[in-house]
Amino acid sequence: MSDLQHQFVKNILLRASHGANEQGRGFAPANIALCKYWGKRDQELNLPLNSSISISIGEKGTLTEISRRSSDQFFLNDQLIDDSNIFSKRLSLFLDLFRNHCRAPGFEVRTFNTIPTAAGLASSASGYAALVLALDDLSGWQLDRKKLSMLARLGSGSATRSLFSGFVVWYAGIAKDGMDSYAEQLEINWPEFKLGLIKIEHNAKPISSRIAMQKTVETSPRFNEWPKRAASDFNDIREAILEYNFDKVGQLSEENALEMHALMNEAIPSINYLLPETYSQMKKINDIRKNGLPVYFTIDAGPNIKLLFQKKHIDYVKDEFNSIEIINPFGD
Ligand code: PMV
Repeated sequence: MSDLQHQFVKNILLRASHGANEQGRGFAPANIALCKYWGKRDQELNLPLNSSISISIGEKGTLTEISRRSSDQFFLNDQLIDDSNIFSKRLSLFLDLFRNHCRAPGFEVRTFNTIPTAAGLASSASGYAALVLALDDLSGWQLDRKKLSMLARLGSGSATRSLFSGFVVWYAGIAKDGMDSYAEQLEINWPEFKLGLIKIEHNAKPISSRIAMQKTVETSPRFNEWPKRAASDFNDIREAILEYNFDKVGQLSEENALEMHALMNEAIPSINYLLPETYSQMKKINDIRKNGLPVYFTIDAGPNIKLLFQKKHIDYVKDEFNSIEIINPFGD
């Protein structure tokens, strides 16, 4: 990791407390973006070009346990991960930022995902958020969630938002040192707001979101329109959430996701995560809506669909989408 990243971590930990536990533990939920983060203003500090908004998915996420060792060893759902694995390499690099601060040459990291395996959700967001919580517990730093969100950001951008439950905003900030780019929870309790995960069968991702994002920034001819568009979506979606305006949240979120995918499609060479089955499910959702039922969707860097709907329509949704996995972000 770079000097800049080491300095950033040092700044965050400057006034942290110090304790030392044998083991640290942390849990963080996965999150689904309604206003997407797409494009960085700083690669090293993982600073976004635009602010984003997500919804965390309750008790579905990652539980991580960490202890000091002489060298690194990582387990995923009790299975030892080979250190040549890309996941291990990324994790080791991230942990390099913390070895001195934690007085540990190596770490044993045990990660358990409670994200439904069939749901096709990315686990890096909840993974890095749970990891910084576990590091904080191990070293007794007692950092607040805002500071932890900034540390998680260095692992994966979307991890910034996984330190909180419910609706979460991540501010892009403007400061060069990245100290004003953090996440915060919106004080909203909206049990009517439901999500449904529609898994589309596919093999490995054609391209990682990290690379796809960069290629879009560099080659998509209309990308210069995105930061302004995303900033206005961010304000409008946040306002619609604060007004509990389901239709407005759904409509704007769907349009925001479609614009992100359109920009990717226009990149050179074109990037397309959507599969024929994704398109037919999108059409189906549109048709249902034309028939008067307010259901909307969002899609991240993959083919799977996340349906946005209201509790009062749950029976209809279950009937229409057979294998849908229902998520209750605010409980039943
Ligand atoms: O955190 P990353 O680098 O995996 O990027 C996440 C990108 C999207 O999931 C497509 C959008 C978002 O805001 O989560």
